[in-house]
Amino acid sequence: HSEVSRVRNLSNIILGEHIIEPWYFSSYPIELTEEDEIYICDFTLSYFGSRKQFERFRSKCSMKHPPGNEIYRDSKVSFWEIDGRKQRTWCRNLCLLSKLFLDHKTLYYDVDPFLFYVMTFKSDQGHHVVGYFSKEKENAEGYNVACILTLPCYQKKGYGKLLIQFSYMLSNIEHKVGSPEKPLSDLGLLSYRAYWTDSLVKLLVERNSPSLYKKNNPQAIEDDVSPAPTGNTSEITIEEISAITCMTTTDILHTLTTLQILRYYKGQHIIVITDQIMLMYDKLIKKIKDKKKHELDPQKLNWTPPL
Ligand code: COA
Ligand code: NA
Repeated sequence: HSEVSRVRNLSNIILGEHIIEPWYFSSYPIELTEEDEIYICDFTLSYFGSRKQFERFRSKCSMKHPPGNEIYRDSKVSFWEIDGRKQRTWCRNLCLLSKLFLDHKTLYYDVDPFLFYVMTFKSDQGHHVVGYFSKEKENAEGYNVACILTLPCYQKKGYGKLLIQFSYMLSNIEHKVGSPEKPLSDLGLLSYRAYWTDSLVKLLVERNSPSLYKKNNPQAIEDDVSPAPTGNTSEITIEEISAITCMTTTDILHTLTTLQILRYYKGQHIIVITDQIMLMYDKLIKKIKDKKKHELDPQKLNWTPPL
């Protein structure tokens, strides 16, 4: 079986109100690939070769959100947990759709070993799929994400970072560290690096400045308040950062190195809070305050790890 690079086989998909041009091959039925456009219902993810078929289906379909449990809801988004074994068709449809935008990952026709965490936003019609990540029910390598995708019509608006934040919120409840499955795509790596940077900058600056922490986390409970300031170096260890963020020490060290704030001093790693890091922190807080960046609220997660 040779690794033929199979070329893009669909020209356009109509998903809800969006027209999307696929990036890569996906194994939709051959009859459909002969059509100029295919129609995908953004609630059931069922696909149709003509508008007529699609509209006939929509007029009878009453589904208004993904299957599974809604485990998170805030003013902007919801998350749904969907078991691949219990919702095979829906999850296979999701994989078919997402394969259009993923070139290097194996497409899992066998969805049974995975849980799917699907993010939606609400309109008058219902809860529309924005993106998702999959997660193996059992994973020996410590991966907390298998595939991750924001549908192209919603990309570059910060949803990818929300998906990533959510994956670490789940790891936190599981008391585990996690990292995404490798290899990551270029876009995947960019997004993870951006998320890791934001998280570490926020943590390090606020650990070193309880007043900033209090000011910018008004919802935090008293016990969370960080220790006394320690000048421009941080006393926190890599292991402590890992325990708080659920990031692996490898991902932390990599991010700190990229930020050029890791110094090696008398046989120990020291993290220096540089002016540049303070600037990055100020920008981040401004983005959140100006509502240009949404953040998930861990308190709104209603979830216990599946057995
Ligand atoms: N060009 C440059 N930077 C980009 C980018 C692009 N096309 N897409 C994302 N980024 C950067 C953003 O600048 C942002 O950083 P910032 O907030 O510090 O500026 C960061 O990555 C995250 O962006 P965000 O808007 O939260 O991500 P997204 O909703 O666009 O989703 C992916 C990111 C990876 C999920 C999305 O690109 C995707 O679905 N790609 C196809 C599938 C894939 O490759 N998945 C990963 C491998 S499994
Ligand atoms: Na990770």
